[in-house]
Amino acid sequence: MNREQIKNLYQEYIVGSYTRDDLVLVAGRGSRVKDMNDREYLDFFPGWAVSGLGHCPGPVVRAIKKQASILLHVSNNYYHPWQAMLAERLSQYCFGGKVFFCNSGAEANEAAIKLCRLYGRGKNKYKIISLENSFHGRTLATVTLTGQAKYSQPFQPLPAGFVKLPFNDIGAVESNADQETVAVFLELIQGEGGINVAEKDYVRHLERICRERDWLLVIDEVQTGFGRTGKMFAYQHYGVTPHIITLAKTMGGGFPIGAMVAQKEIANLMGPGTHASTFGGGPLACSAALAVLEMIERNNLISRAEKMGWYLRKKLEGLMKKYPVVKQVRGMGLMLGMELHRPGFPLVRVCREKGLLLNCTHERVIRIMPALTVRRAEIDEAVDILDHSLKEFTCLAQ
Ligand SMILES: Cc1ncc(COP(=O)(O)O)c(C=O)c1O
Repeated sequence: MNREQIKNLYQEYIVGSYTRDDLVLVAGRGSRVKDMNDREYLDFFPGWAVSGLGHCPGPVVRAIKKQASILLHVSNNYYHPWQAMLAERLSQYCFGGKVFFCNSGAEANEAAIKLCRLYGRGKNKYKIISLENSFHGRTLATVTLTGQAKYSQPFQPLPAGFVKLPFNDIGAVESNADQETVAVFLELIQGEGGINVAEKDYVRHLERICRERDWLLVIDEVQTGFGRTGKMFAYQHYGVTPHIITLAKTMGGGFPIGAMVAQKEIANLMGPGTHASTFGGGPLACSAALAVLEMIERNNLISRAEKMGWYLRKKLEGLMKKYPVVKQVRGMGLMLGMELHRPGFPLVRVCREKGLLLNCTHERVIRIMPALTVRRAEIDEAVDILDHSLKEFTCLAQ
């Protein structure tokens, strides 16, 4: 099949809900992917952080192959060892909670929403606060939770009980003295919203308010989790303990898996029959995730993310000094954003033409999230391409 034939089949048979770049990818290894003409690209936005340990990471591929030959699937009305081992490891990495396994970030947030509702049951508390510019998924409840109306408006009427407040604004939370509130959801770095970093004081204050008002603090770590920000989970930078965290993306190293981890006494509210996912926590997905954890530890990928993050950040700040079109560089670890003074999609296109894959979010923010395994030389190469692309982009607009 050639490229045009593939695109025609997409056009004919695939629901058109995605905007796709004009690229047919057929292979990948580490920070590089190849298209049909064997052209290589440096991937600095690998699968929206799903391929957070690079494409086809060896230990994960080997674990999947091995598990596939032992046992592919076990339903959740039986036990199997790999789910047990993974849950114990995840619990030890955070606050000793219990885990519900699913297959995606939206499902993890959906589980968290349901758990919050169970927590508020009998107390007439059901409202969930989320923050403007947040992103939490595409199911009906999670688009409603998401603080960007464009994702939910076409699907009205929306589920009730969701309240939006401005980000990093503790006054807005303080003045929300609603007795019916049960929880507050937030991303500590809003990814889709433009790499907006939550302030430390804000998050600590929020934790205090949650304690005082009997609200649950839910942190969406779907994008920030598994070492990307220089800690296993972003909340660990803040000195707070959430009641619930939600996980996905890098968790399976490319294999679909998601999870909600909740403090034990809260998790225990989810008794038999309250929630389920047929594929959730299957042997293949759990083996992949166990290999991801092993790889993160063995290769010190968390401290590496911090170190490489600083290296990349300094270089991006160098570009900011050189090109006035760059307004700000921000983020944490290897989750960085470069805000421009004008829409960034043409810059992403120019970079792609020169062999570098990036993302533009919130119209003006170039999102840069290379694999945690990225090498210094690959950062140099990517920044070099970005430099030349910025030069061209600057001329484009004049
Ligand atoms: C912070 C955050 N939460 C939830 C989701 C939804 O995850 P999924 O697409 O796996 O359902 C995303 C996806 O980009 C995300 O970035």
